[in-house]
Amino acid sequence: MNSARRPLISGNWKMHHHHLEALHCVEKLAFRLSKEDYARVDVSVHPPFTDMRTVQTFILAEKNVGLLLGAQHCHAADKGAFTGEVSVSMLAKLDVRYVIAGHSERRQFFGETDAGVNEKTKAILKAAMTPIVCVGETLEEREADQAVARVSTQLAAGLAGLKADAVGSLVVAYEPIWAIGTGRTATADDAQAMCSAIRSMVTAEFGPEAGLRVRIQYGGSAKAANASELLSQSDVDGLLVGGASLDADEFAKIVQAARF
Ligand code: 13P
Repeated sequence: MNSARRPLISGNWKMHHHHLEALHCVEKLAFRLSKEDYARVDVSVHPPFTDMRTVQTFILAEKNVGLLLGAQHCHAADKGAFTGEVSVSMLAKLDVRYVIAGHSERRQFFGETDAGVNEKTKAILKAAMTPIVCVGETLEEREADQAVARVSTQLAAGLAGLKADAVGSLVVAYEPIWAIGTGRTATADDAQAMCSAIRSMVTAEFGPEAGLRVRIQYGGSAKAANASELLSQSDVDGLLVGGASLDADEFAKIVQAARF
């Protein structure tokens, strides 16, 4: 981490927790986290859509809870005949602050493309929310020494046409696909190398101010046991946590690892 940027720890719950379990989880999390934690770290939870209103209501009712609501996905259009989809304006209305765009599971299982990620990123920004733009290579690409090229292509396409100021305000999540849900974490050195490469790409394309401001998360089997080491890297500004965010005790420890 670098003191120029505020750490962001995000819990991507994926398709876990129905709304009662969600309430239980955020209650427990709120009990574990304090005002001091929220003062130093941005903390977002990204529940399934069916839980979001419950979580929003809980956050609004508890004055000292600084949790921020996030979404896992959105549709770029404001409204329309898109059965099953949820628009950015619906999310904004629920006080959603962060929206994940282009998670590798969406790319792999739901056919999301770089162009689609770009469209969504623009829509999220337009609705005054913060995109978390996900990039990351497969194991084959890493082994073929193609990791930086792959991430660079995804990043260039995902951020195409954005203004430097907007890029400085958003979040990029580096999630190597081989580390997601596998228990296999990138080493802190690997995470730092790619996060630093991402920052250099942003600087080259959008200028030094955007490069300095953009926050870069690492994601892939992040947990309490490896959070401090990952976060001690100068270009790792936070973590996008999957499995370990479902357990409030574990997730609170990860947030507290970002408090130095
Ligand atoms: P895991 O932490 O379960 O590996 O998932 C990472 C992820 O995909 C977060 O978006």
